[in-house]
Amino acid sequence: MDGATRDQRRSSDEPLGVWLVGARGAVATTTIVGAIALKRGHTGSVGLVTESDPFHGSGLASLDALVFGGHDLLDTPLVKAAHALCRDVGPLAPDLVRLLEDELSTSEQHLRLAPAIVAGQPPREFVRAVQRDLAEFRTSSGARRVIVVNVATTEPLPPSDLLGLDLAGLERMLDVPDARLPTSALYAYAAIDMGMPYVNFTPSVGASLVALEALAQARGVPHAGRDGKTGETLLKSVLAPMFRMRGLQVRSWVGFNVLGNADGLALADPVTAASKTESKGKVVPAILGYEPHTLVRIDYVPTLGDWKTAWDFIQFEGFLRTPMTLQFTWQGADSALAAPLVLDLVRLVDLAASRGERGGLGHLAFFFKSPVSCEVHDLAEQHALLCRHVKGS
Ligand SMILES: NC(=O)c1ccc[n+]([C@@H]2O[C@H](COP(=O)([O-])OP(=O)(O)OC[C@H]3O[C@@H](n4cnc5c(N)ncnc54)[C@H](O)[C@@H]3O)[C@@H](O)[C@H]2O)c1
Repeated sequence: MDGATRDQRRSSDEPLGVWLVGARGAVATTTIVGAIALKRGHTGSVGLVTESDPFHGSGLASLDALVFGGHDLLDTPLVKAAHALCRDVGPLAPDLVRLLEDELSTSEQHLRLAPAIVAGQPPREFVRAVQRDLAEFRTSSGARRVIVVNVATTEPLPPSDLLGLDLAGLERMLDVPDARLPTSALYAYAAIDMGMPYVNFTPSVGASLVALEALAQARGVPHAGRDGKTGETLLKSVLAPMFRMRGLQVRSWVGFNVLGNADGLALADPVTAASKTESKGKVVPAILGYEPHTLVRIDYVPTLGDWKTAWDFIQFEGFLRTPMTLQFTWQGADSALAAPLVLDLVRLVDLAASRGERGGLGHLAFFFKSPVSCEVHDLAEQHALLCRHVKGS
């Protein structure tokens, strides 16, 4: 669908569609609640990067312009999903959710059950079904521009030969009955093929295949990912540069994470967790430039609800090889950390599309554990890169 980027040209107040894959999950629900609460003036913009100084006047879409739709495997009403995230289980205040119940119910109109992957059919059938829903959303919401955001359950790592497959190879596989392709990559294909920018907030493969980068280049569509950087890894990307800059030698950096929401339950499966631990594990060696002993553990503790705790224990050496340690404990509300970043990413990817940028957006590395098209992991450097890029300097 050439000419797709033209569809993404915009004026900042016209509706901007946000299609959430995993639309009834904790991150998606908190994102929708947060956007409505901001629009109605029930909350402020704490935690939103795009509302901070460097981004004023840069032409970002108004937060009031966002219209939400999405797919989920479940049909839990949004109001119920929001109440399930109320304190003490999650970050939402019960009074706020009660206040927004009507608008949350209205948001249901654009949510759809995710298409099924049917045995015996080629994956292209699934792609077509997704595209039908996306096209219908564009029409019914009045949003000419739509950004597709993956906030669905983490998938296991794909076979490594898929990563380097070229676009022609992927196109062939899409037509093979029962060909096994990750659902996140099929959603990414569906979006990019329609000229809709794609954001992968999860550790799943999404658009990070060579073939999908080629498709994004060919269609003139930007994409961003992977795996939102919201907690322990955010801290790593601040602290590891300090050790490097001071010439302190990190000998060992081990991190133990406990969390209790549905994401925690999914990550209790070691096969699924492999994609998360891979993306969490590479930040420290990439920043230090050498490989200390590292370990990332993630364990499910149901009583924690949406709260996650990370305890990191770092052994390092100073002058005269003096052994020292640093420990930190980070306690965050998972969805409250993630939701503002989803809003930021939607606005920044939309801005990139309006400027004709295509392919992986390296300047958005600031938001991700495993950034596409960028090898910079130091948070300060990533922030400088982001600000320079958005200002066009
Ligand atoms: N919260 C954070 O700080 C954070 C940070 C980085 C990444 N993430 C990632 O964001 C994702 C969402 O996290 P969450 O806490 O909202 O999880 P969640 O389990 O609450 O929500 C995931 C939703 O995805 C739906 N889903 C699963 N497969 C689907 C499919 N094929 N199509 C459509 N919907 C599907 C599920 O039914 C569920 O409603 C996870 O992959 C998580 O690893 C979260």
